[in-house]
Amino acid sequence: MTETAGTAPSISAEQATVEAELTRNVLRSFEDCPDPRLKQVMQALVQNLHAFIRDVRLTEAEWNRAIDFLTAAGHITDDKRQEFILLSDVLGASMQTINVSNEAYKNATEATVFGPFFVDDAPQIPIGGDIAGDAAGQPCWVEGTVKDTDGNPVPGARIEVWEADEDGFYDVQYADSRVAGRAHLFADQDGNYSFWGLTPTPYPIPHDGPVGKMLEATGRSPMRASHLHFMVAAPGKRTLVTHIFVTGDNLLTCDTVFGVKQSLIKDFVEQPAGTPTPDGRGLDGQNWSRTRFDIVLAPEIP
Ligand code: BEZ
Ligand code: FE
Repeated sequence: MTETAGTAPSISAEQATVEAELTRNVLRSFEDCPDPRLKQVMQALVQNLHAFIRDVRLTEAEWNRAIDFLTAAGHITDDKRQEFILLSDVLGASMQTINVSNEAYKNATEATVFGPFFVDDAPQIPIGGDIAGDAAGQPCWVEGTVKDTDGNPVPGARIEVWEADEDGFYDVQYADSRVAGRAHLFADQDGNYSFWGLTPTPYPIPHDGPVGKMLEATGRSPMRASHLHFMVAAPGKRTLVTHIFVTGDNLLTCDTVFGVKQSLIKDFVEQPAGTPTPDGRGLDGQNWSRTRFDIVLAPEIP
């Protein structure tokens, strides 16, 4: 598979002229747009959209099918379910926008997709606290530092963390109003943080709607690689939205939203039952795991 998906169609010179003229006319219709950025974006959109239609020789039936698909995506979308974000995610559009908007800066930690399951106002926990609440899963000790790109600690950085339970569901996917598997905490004066979470497990993105049907029709899996979400913010620093992934997970190479970056894959080291915990917590003979995630924040671009 090359980067150019279509095959060059053989059309007559007259036909090519008709098609090119339409594109030129539509581009011209935006010429007087008073906002230069909007003009640039709309003209590039038209240019690329027309190129796509011409490239694949799109039929009217196919275009109507696409309209039906978007209509269905609109109908299933509400304040809890956002099918358009899912669509953007599985097409790699979210990830590509993140790549474009978060250019690599020195050794700053890489960003990845936000996903639809963050909620504001997650409870605050102290350093070493537990984000799990009633969420089921294997306990996992997570620790690390928050530093700037010169290696200085970022004291008091706000760290939001959220994850699915061992059944692959976030709290907001349950019909009750539980809050579990999410919290925020603040790094200490030396930039250190730690908390108890759950060892991440793989789960599918919501696939009972039009995006799921598209994945099925195209032979794609809805599964995401196991991960734990972070959002880290501090004054003067670029807010980092990212996850960490689990070394050895067999979904790392086929995450359905293309969110995996090599630098974000971490060892989650299994600890046999009875292994002393870092804070002396008793775990009733359960296995647990531990991982380390040292976070580096880029400066905010003014
Ligand atoms: C997630 O990380 O939970 C997620 C990300 C993108 C789409 C669906 C789910
Ligand atoms: Fe997630």
